[in-house]
Amino acid sequence: MATPPSDGPVVTTTRAELDAVLAPARAAGRRVGFVATMGALHAGHASLMARVRQLVDDGPVVVSIFVNPTQFGAGEDLDRYPRTLDDDLAMCAREGVDVVFAPSVEEVYPRGVSTGSATVDAVTVEPGSLAERYEGASRPGHFRGVLTVVAKLFGLVRPDVTVFGQKDYQQLVLVRRMSADLCLRVEVLGGDTVREPDGLALSSRNRYLSPTERTQALALSRALRAAQTAAVDGPAAALAAVLGVLDDADGVEVDYVAVTDRDLGDLPVHVPPGTEGRALVAARVGTTRLIDNVPLAFGATRDH
Ligand code: PAF
Repeated sequence: MATPPSDGPVVTTTRAELDAVLAPARAAGRRVGFVATMGALHAGHASLMARVRQLVDDGPVVVSIFVNPTQFGAGEDLDRYPRTLDDDLAMCAREGVDVVFAPSVEEVYPRGVSTGSATVDAVTVEPGSLAERYEGASRPGHFRGVLTVVAKLFGLVRPDVTVFGQKDYQQLVLVRRMSADLCLRVEVLGGDTVREPDGLALSSRNRYLSPTERTQALALSRALRAAQTAAVDGPAAALAAVLGVLDDADGVEVDYVAVTDRDLGDLPVHVPPGTEGRALVAARVGTTRLIDNVPLAFGATRDH
């Protein structure tokens, strides 16, 4: 077990330790708040923790730190995913987190994890067709892994409320859907994306970018801002604005761009003014895959 900073969170690694630490709060009927992370924490995570802290008053805030192998595809960055536990614990301490849950893979997946040809027979969450679009189309099986681990973490932590970052918007929509569809009774809220002053959305993967790539990566947020401005002229204008910026961007290999309704569904042909939507982009900058998205408010529909 890692040593927490003084006055920092209690660090637990097993379900028995987690149960023991949370038992008094549960017995007192306090609300439990939860933030699920894979570590490599940054200011975006801190804002989720601060939000949860407010939501549960004097109830415990639990943060999980677990690099979930089942949501990484072959050839993705599981092995090089940053692991920064000491810094993560220091941030949790600063944000007033009460409990960190940092389990081993065996603790979360007692039957093991499928690797190559060795398939483990275990119950998983079927995420539905939304998981095959956007991120899911580029990363087959990703959301099955995400929802399965989040369901496990919900079962272990048994939170009343959780906040997921809107930066991973499809993940937020799917986790919210899972909680509702599987009657998990966890309130799932979305936390605002935190950005650098120049617009880059904070991400644990930004640390892979060279200085040149970091500058090139700004095209993503620039494209999304252009979509927000153009949305007054409808969805097609918003989409054209994103593509216009990205077409001219150096070093950015676009994976997908989408303009959707607020739940990531297709937009109807006629979009009434005032309808809310979402613009999403995924792109590779150097060897780093980045995603970002923004809310849209549609105005006139002269492009339909
Ligand atoms: O967003 C993440 O960091 C991960 O997908 C999550 C929700 C912690 C599940 O592993």
